[in-house]
Amino acid sequence: MKSLAILNGPNLNLLGRRQPEIYGRTTLNDIEVMCRTHAERLGVELAFSQSNHEGELVEAIHAAVGTHDGLILNAGAYTHTSVALRDAIASVGLPVVEVHLSNIHAREAFRHHSHIAPVALGQICGFGATGYVLAMDALASHLSGATDAAT
Ligand code: DQA
Repeated sequence: MKSLAILNGPNLNLLGRRQPEIYGRTTLNDIEVMCRTHAERLGVELAFSQSNHEGELVEAIHAAVGTHDGLILNAGAYTHTSVALRDAIASVGLPVVEVHLSNIHAREAFRHHSHIAPVALGQICGFGATGYVLAMDALASHLSGATDAAT
């Protein structure tokens, strides 16, 4: 059975009460429940975690080698600042799908650039919590070899 890990970065523990006009009322726990239900449908194992610390996220990416087959990462604000996260992803060579609840390209200019995108399989943003489920589909499909050569 394939194993996926979903990693969430800073401030995502506040989902539900954090700027609901941007991020909605869905909590991170709601998202975890949704993803666990979807993991059962897909027949994959799922680990789900959150950290406000860049180094912990780097270590979670390292620890995924040999444990998980692919990662889904919402790096929060570190998306736009962290060369360390980008280097960690490039170092481990695991497939990573980048997720954002909001459409980062339709927001402030400083959110338009992602350090993660160049080392990710792809990016899903703007679909709220549904983006996590879409990312699971994309990653499971990639891991099963069902997608075309480009992915
Ligand atoms: C976010 C977008 C980031 O720009 C922001 O810093 C976040 C959340 C999103 O899911 O939309 O913390 O990653």
